[in-house]
Amino acid sequence: MFIKTTIDGEPVQISSELLVKYDQALPRYTSYPTAPVWHDNITDDEYRKALTERAARPAAPMSLYIHLPFCSERCAFCACNVIISKKRHVIDQYLDAVSAELATVGAFFPSKPLLAQLHLGGGTPNYLDPPQMERLLTEVKKYFLFEDTIEASVEADPRWTNTEKIAGLRTLGINRLSFGVQDIDPVVQQAINRVQPFELVQEQVREARRQGFESVNIDLIYGLPFQNAERWAKTLNAVAEINPDRIALFNFAYVPWLHVHHQKIAADSLPMPQEKMRLFTQAIDKFNEMKYDFIGMDHFARKTDELSVARREQKLHRNFQGYTTRAGLDLIGFGVTAIGDIAGRFFQNERKLVSYERTVTSGKLATSKGYVRTRNDELRRSLIMQLFCHQKIDKRRVEADWKLDFAREFAVPMEKLQNLSRDGLVRLTPECIEITALGRLFIRNVAAAFDQYLGQGEGKFSRAV
Ligand SMILES: C[S@@+](CC[C@H](N)C(=O)[O-])C[C@H]1O[C@@H](n2cnc3c(N)ncnc32)[C@H](O)[C@@H]1O
Ligand code: SF4
Repeated sequence: MFIKTTIDGEPVQISSELLVKYDQALPRYTSYPTAPVWHDNITDDEYRKALTERAARPAAPMSLYIHLPFCSERCAFCACNVIISKKRHVIDQYLDAVSAELATVGAFFPSKPLLAQLHLGGGTPNYLDPPQMERLLTEVKKYFLFEDTIEASVEADPRWTNTEKIAGLRTLGINRLSFGVQDIDPVVQQAINRVQPFELVQEQVREARRQGFESVNIDLIYGLPFQNAERWAKTLNAVAEINPDRIALFNFAYVPWLHVHHQKIAADSLPMPQEKMRLFTQAIDKFNEMKYDFIGMDHFARKTDELSVARREQKLHRNFQGYTTRAGLDLIGFGVTAIGDIAGRFFQNERKLVSYERTVTSGKLATSKGYVRTRNDELRRSLIMQLFCHQKIDKRRVEADWKLDFAREFAVPMEKLQNLSRDGLVRLTPECIEITALGRLFIRNVAAAFDQYLGQGEGKFSRAV
């Protein structure tokens, strides 16, 4: 029995054997090397060195991420770094800490660096009330300058948004909103502890458009408890009605051994891999009908969206937040667990709120983990990026750019790719490695062929199907 769909206008058939074979625990490759490879003997000195190097290139714009971890209640499916608190003063205290961190990092730059991207992620950034949000963005603007074309985005939970908050964000220079929807069915919503009437989403998307937000994204998840074709069709139809600019359709990462609250979701309420792939392809069919482009892995966009345009022009890139049109920007992360990517190194801040706050308010940096990339890491990272963004690696170009013999350098990955090629996931020619339409559904498996550290992440990754 085959599951059928159409990708990039090509009919695709997925056999159950293929699903069984490729349903492996694998990274999502938002970074390479992936987080389990990073280590904790990276020091603040390394971070200082990276910031000093970065400050010596003042003309290059950068990207900034601020983690706002607070939520009022935990959704049972959540895999984000979240702190549950109903106390508003806890947020004020956290903003004191983030302000201190901004001041410490800002002091490395003789003049305000230009920001091409600002992303407030969470947790629930819009859990902040308007004065708290204003305070945060005023602090950011003390040390960084917004480019005219800045992409300034906020992850928003529709249950915590209202007209006043949306207007406030717009006034502060935020121009993109991403709403967490997940699924609109009441049975599914109960099972994931995320009861949220769809009217709320409709209202807020309408309000965001009215206030002139340039882009609205909707997050959905497939593979949640009790999802089935009929229920899922209702969610997809509802999303079609609001016609967002972009849709992120995440594969439910169910990792009860890492997140205790996932144990509230009974394994037998979850769709099996075959059913999950059916839900995914059902969504692809719907998005085809809506004339959206399949950007890659879990992202879809209207044909006129800049991500679609960038994909057609082979100018797509990928970072921790997903697909983007901006290449190679250094990223500075602020807040508890926040990740940075500066001058060839990854850094991650402390996980514990108390120690993060104590460290940054005493004027220190809160780095707890990180990684200095080698030349070989950069090379493999660029190949993985090409697969995710262009579905293609031009071997001759890699040889010219990196001064190497592709066949000799990548004998092991090529052997793995031969196997994937027999299953129709990649097309191999002397010049190119190309992911087929079918292979686009198994992008993590294809990328994993180039991952030198795969064994080090055991137990840390969710299933690829
Ligand atoms: C920080 S939340 C978005 C903002 C807000 N907290 C909300 O939930 O609406 C980021 C997104 O990650 C996705 N997500 C969280 N946990 C996930 C999991 N276990 N598997 C797949 N996607 C997940 C959800 O789609 C969620 O909207
Ligand atoms: S999904 Fe969003 S609202 Fe729910 S717990 Fe996670 S971060 Fe908070």
